[in-house]
Amino acid sequence: MTEPTAMHALRAHLAQYIVGQRDLVDRLLIGLLTGGHLLVEGLPGLAKTTAVKALADGVHARFKRVQFTPDLLPADLLGNEVYHPETRTFSFAPGPLFNEIILADEINRAPAKVQSALLEAMAERQVTVAGETRQLPALFLVMATQNPLEQSGTYPLPEAQLDRFMLHVALTYPERQDEYAILARTLAGTLGAPAAGGTGITVDEVLAARDAVKAVHCDPALQRWVVDVVAATRAPEKAALGLESLAGMVLVGASPRGAQAWVQSAQAYAWLNGRDFIVPDDLLTLAPDVLRHRLILSPKALVSGLNRDQLINRLCTEIALP
Ligand SMILES: Nc1ncnc2c1ncn2[C@@H]1O[C@H](COP(=O)(O)OP(=O)(O)OP(=O)(O)O)[C@@H](O)[C@H]1O
Ligand SMILES: [Mg+2]
Repeated sequence: MTEPTAMHALRAHLAQYIVGQRDLVDRLLIGLLTGGHLLVEGLPGLAKTTAVKALADGVHARFKRVQFTPDLLPADLLGNEVYHPETRTFSFAPGPLFNEIILADEINRAPAKVQSALLEAMAERQVTVAGETRQLPALFLVMATQNPLEQSGTYPLPEAQLDRFMLHVALTYPERQDEYAILARTLAGTLGAPAAGGTGITVDEVLAARDAVKAVHCDPALQRWVVDVVAATRAPEKAALGLESLAGMVLVGASPRGAQAWVQSAQAYAWLNGRDFIVPDDLLTLAPDVLRHRLILSPKALVSGLNRDQLINRLCTEIALP
């Protein structure tokens, strides 16, 4: 089966700006199709901003980019009560979070109180300002970027709140031939230039696609496997015979929200691949991006050189698929 037509149009739009990086593009589409927020992490110059901005432009949604800086305040995201002296009244001036797609660029450059305001709004899909609670738009989607290099003047994200992101996308360098293409298209002036047939899709098409994605079937046996693996992130040594050596490696594992995010993102991935049911490969492909940021490993794991991706990989291999 082939990919749904609307997604072809969106991919064509994205390809005007992003060369290669198929995994990144797939995950951006998964976020869009599920309403799941994304944290895109990678070294400088890997087209994080370019990619997220291209996606937002490609869906004709009300879009706002917020550059996170050390002097940003929660009110700069949420909005303010504004006083009108002539009528002696207050009115609410909504902040950037009231848009449909928000690019939170370089999220680790703003201090904890601003990050928390964003992460809270992501989970609640509403914000409270001056005692009054206001709903955020139906499409509301946050795409945050982060540069992992340790730098002075950055603030690490609160690890305990990171599971509000559906996926943690780790960017890698482009392949050699893609890097040639980036350079060649830059010199030819065709990178980011509008092309025929690549104008993206409408918000209505996105919402219709979201409904279709929700109907993708996940076999109960696969659901049980997901729950087993998620439980194993909390106590890996109890999950299967081959995993006893992982005792004491995890401080905090994934929550039930992790299991939801896993199956929902797999529904979108299956749908993008033209299926209306999930196969084990969908779940295996997405496991690292769904689980990585939900785990806090112990000092023992760090000492023994075990990283989060290796742990996830072992759980997915040792816990038998149905
Ligand atoms: N895969 C790619 N496709 C197209 N352009 C790319 C790709 N990778 C890098 N570039 C180019 O690299 C430059 C940097 O991109 P961008 O500003 O989006 O990076 P970034 O990841 O946001 O970097 P930073 O962390 O410094 O903000 C842009 O000119 C972009 O065109
Ligand atoms: Mg950037």
